[in-house]
Amino acid sequence: MYTERNTKPKIVIAIDGFSSCGKSTFAKAIARRLGYIFIDTGAMYRAVTLYALEHGAIRSGMVDDDAVVRLLPEIHIDFRFNPERGASDIYVNGDRVEGKIRTIEVSNCVSAVSSIGAVRRKLVAMQQEMGRKRGVVMDGRDIGTTVFPDAELKIFMTADPAVRAQRRYDELTARGDQVSYDEILQNVLSRDKADMERAISPLRKADDAIVLDNSHMTVEEQMEWFDREFRRVTER
Ligand code: DC
Repeated sequence: MYTERNTKPKIVIAIDGFSSCGKSTFAKAIARRLGYIFIDTGAMYRAVTLYALEHGAIRSGMVDDDAVVRLLPEIHIDFRFNPERGASDIYVNGDRVEGKIRTIEVSNCVSAVSSIGAVRRKLVAMQQEMGRKRGVVMDGRDIGTTVFPDAELKIFMTADPAVRAQRRYDELTARGDQVSYDEILQNVLSRDKADMERAISPLRKADDAIVLDNSHMTVEEQMEWFDREFRRVTER
């Protein structure tokens, strides 16, 4: 069917940035707006971490890099659209793991797993294949620098750490979790540091990325900002 949606030019939109600054909310919203595929690459690193936890490659929080690498050939990841959520769920070897990858246990080990070279090589190759036909919004840490250095639109998202911690605090307390604001702020700061200091593909702004600091912006304002940038790169 001919719709306004599929007349949009198909480009790659790379969204990188710090944790908890609303990257996936923003990425999902623009994918919906453009009729693009949204790929949450953090979910892929989380899925490998979950599999490693469930198959003995992580014990008492200690990641055995060699054991993780040995498991890699048997890990098959795919995304399937879930109409109820209006987004794709992640599957490992045919099992839906969307809920299981967001636990604290996975969050605590994912930085170590995502710093293993063989893990990054496998997931980067998958991500490049997923975006081969363009028409994707991919969110992560190294999309504009490593996965798609040729992305037509690169956005680097950031927000004041105090604002990010407050958002995360509101989210968790609304869910009934007992957490302290200070504990969350420390976690935000230490994840920023781990992401930026990683030896392979550290988080950094690509030279040609544009910065979106959403500390004081509503989602609507971010969408208006995005529409202008999208027109700028597709109408030139
Ligand atoms: O976006 P997230 O918090 O769900 O990502 C989980 C972890 O995966 C995060 O600690 C950094 C890592 N990650 C990465 O190294 N490269 C990516 N492209 C995406 C995420």
